[in-house]
Amino acid sequence: MKLTTKLLAATAIVGAGAAHATDLEVMHWWTSGGEANAVSKLAEAWDATGNKWIDGAIAGGGDTARPIMVSRIIGGDPPAAFQFNHGRQAEELIQAGLLMDLTDVAEANHWKDIVNPPSLLDACTVDGKVYCAPINIHSWQWMWLSDAAYAKAGVPVPTNWEEFAATAPALQAAGITPLAMGGQSWQQNGAFGVMALALAGQDAWLKVNKDKDATVVMGPEYTKVFEAFGAAREFSAGLNVQDWNQATAAVIDGTAGAQIMGDWAQGEFAMAGKVAGTDYECLPGLGDAAILDTGGDAFYFPVNSDPAITAAQKELAALLLSPAVQVSFNSAKGSLPIRGDVDLTTVNECTQKGLDLLAAGKVVPAGTELLSPDTVTQLNDLMTEFWSTPTMTPAEVQKQYADIIASAT
Ligand code: GAL
Repeated sequence: MKLTTKLLAATAIVGAGAAHATDLEVMHWWTSGGEANAVSKLAEAWDATGNKWIDGAIAGGGDTARPIMVSRIIGGDPPAAFQFNHGRQAEELIQAGLLMDLTDVAEANHWKDIVNPPSLLDACTVDGKVYCAPINIHSWQWMWLSDAAYAKAGVPVPTNWEEFAATAPALQAAGITPLAMGGQSWQQNGAFGVMALALAGQDAWLKVNKDKDATVVMGPEYTKVFEAFGAAREFSAGLNVQDWNQATAAVIDGTAGAQIMGDWAQGEFAMAGKVAGTDYECLPGLGDAAILDTGGDAFYFPVNSDPAITAAQKELAALLLSPAVQVSFNSAKGSLPIRGDVDLTTVNECTQKGLDLLAAGKVVPAGTELLSPDTVTQLNDLMTEFWSTPTMTPAEVQKQYADIIASAT
């Protein structure tokens, strides 16, 4: 073959793959070991299309990441795509016309027929237009427990909150912190939300979070929750960690007994080679009320004036919901796929419990779908103040919590 022919052939091959090759910067806050592993599945799938994933990971969790993303977008230097919890976090960006309408992608790919539960697509939809691509169902409603810690303390692994509280002194006597809690406010408020749904029950929880009924916050069901939260504060003494995955690491190595944290914690156990049912146990709804909140993550795509980027953004949106990506990403992350027609072939017993609850319809919407970001911030601030102020009583925090709910929109 002549050199020119060879060159032409090479150009044709490159051209076939790269004719529309586009770099897309994708911002997210998935930086723990399990999360980074999960996000690498997205990057691999996107790169396999001939395009390129430019990873824009921001460490420090969603509360740190979201303002940085927003300032990039309103400052005129938007990423091509970014992660938010779907629901109310993107309301203002959508109103300002800064996010791309994905309705055509949703229609072409039949998202209405495949996304399950439908509330996930509803949470992406404003005035009939779809603005985000939901990627997972994740739920906060879990407690993760260390078999080694309970074995060392000589007590059985608890099967509900009451047993957890009753065995906490035995763990403390063995030098183990019963409850691992990180220092960021979203972790403390998140754990309170889990305790409220598990201990006060679904009706009371919905009255507070959906109907914004402050009298229920002051009523007997929630009083129990504030008292239990006060006990939880005591159970966490002695372990000073900041990030949620550091708290998970304490459960993994048995220096803590348990953690109340969303299903993303499973990605950490998996990365550490730990096996559900042998090394660690999981209690949905703290073992008291097995109900999942069906929150999740979604990708939003800022409006872009370059048609090549716009086309690539839409291609990525469609890819995120494809069966292969749904399986690879959610298996690594510990979350559940957003479509009911894919098979997570080798799920462990904790993921299976989650799938069973989903199939049985034992679900509620996520707090991030019901409460505005402003209300969530106020509750985060209040619950972290309580957590770090030993003199603040459960009755005091209850009153202030009720005031925030009373003024929530
Ligand atoms: C949540 C996010 C989860 C998980 C968690 C901890 O907001 O939706 O996917 O990553 O933060 O980083």
